[in-house]
Amino acid sequence: MREAKLAHTDLFDPVEFNGLKLKNRIALSPLTRARATQDGKAGELQAVYYSQRASAGLLITEATAVVPGGRGGPFLPGLWEDAQIPGWKEVTDAVHAKNGLIFSQLWHAGRLSHSSLSADGKSAPVAPSEYSQPGEIFTEAGPQPYEPVHVMTKPEIKGMVGAYEAAAARAKKAGFDGIELHAAHSYLISAFLNDMTNKREDEYGGSIENRARFLKEILEACLKVWDGKRIMVRLAPLGHAYGTWDTDPEPLFTHVIDVMNELGIGWLDLVEGDTGVTRKPEPYFDVLKLREQFNGPTILNNLYTRDMAIEAREKNTGDIIAFGRPFIGNPDLVERLKADAELHEAPLKAYYGGGARGYTDFPTMEEA
Ligand SMILES: Cc1cc2nc3c(=O)[nH]c(=O)nc-3n(C[C@H](O)[C@H](O)[C@H](O)COP(=O)(O)O)c2cc1C
Repeated sequence: MREAKLAHTDLFDPVEFNGLKLKNRIALSPLTRARATQDGKAGELQAVYYSQRASAGLLITEATAVVPGGRGGPFLPGLWEDAQIPGWKEVTDAVHAKNGLIFSQLWHAGRLSHSSLSADGKSAPVAPSEYSQPGEIFTEAGPQPYEPVHVMTKPEIKGMVGAYEAAAARAKKAGFDGIELHAAHSYLISAFLNDMTNKREDEYGGSIENRARFLKEILEACLKVWDGKRIMVRLAPLGHAYGTWDTDPEPLFTHVIDVMNELGIGWLDLVEGDTGVTRKPEPYFDVLKLREQFNGPTILNNLYTRDMAIEAREKNTGDIIAFGRPFIGNPDLVERLKADAELHEAPLKAYYGGGARGYTDFPTMEEA
């Protein structure tokens, strides 16, 4: 049965999209691993980690902040200053040496950041509008309650668009093959998109067009630096991250795809369902319609197993399948899936922080 499935699947076959030659249709989903330096630099350790996973057709980096206060925790990397370019260049060189492709995920956590992470160590996290976030954020001083937000003024929104453009330019200098805008999980762009977190009354709030304006302006700015074929957008239209979502997601995300098509954006990274939790949350709509609507290749993600990935290709519901957690403990996930070998489950404590341990020390099948 398995043999027969493998014989038919094109999951492991090379494929070309937007002029990039992928080794297969498997992607590394963006995974924050919290092993950057205190000042947000990647380097040799990340170079080892990503190059270990370079048998995937496409790698997408962990969320990388466009300004210091865009980080959602300590030891997360950034591209907010030129000094962060060389460390990422080590990463892209190591991945390219293994014939891999890697996109940088550009990010701002919005209200899900903390003043201690901001440039001056005391500025409140920013958001499109007031929102009192329950719960705690992990900071260098331990867990702390989320803080009251600073509602962004229009000049600050323009400034943030500029920060995305500057980070996109640094990603290019660092040798990335493209960028992904993180527009999911209630972080800043997603907080603008979703009606639960955006109560603005100016041209950045209210109607769907207005809520999508921040993303549109960021895309337009990034297009000054990158060809649209090298830009990807990550959307989780049904995501419930941090207890928020959009109450009528279908028209909103249909509009977002229209904008992406109009601007000639190359790639869609589509999280099906509530990330890491379920593929069918409420309010539900069939997000695969967005793949039909989108002009470029679509990456599918969330809770995929080997069989589901093979089935997705059989039914052609998406072009590429991204795996997140399975890649943590299995650097050679592609080879293991191909061989239908057992997967190693990484312990949860390895996910965030801990240096090389639980990061670059998981053996390949051969080494094991
Ligand atoms: C440890 C960890 C870190 C993550 N970090 C990010 C991130 O930086 N950016 C992002 O878009 N998603 C992030 N995610 C979500 C994953 O990319 C992915 O969508 C999710 O794990 C579901 O895919 P999976 O079932 O294959 O793991 C993270 C998930 C985990 C478990």
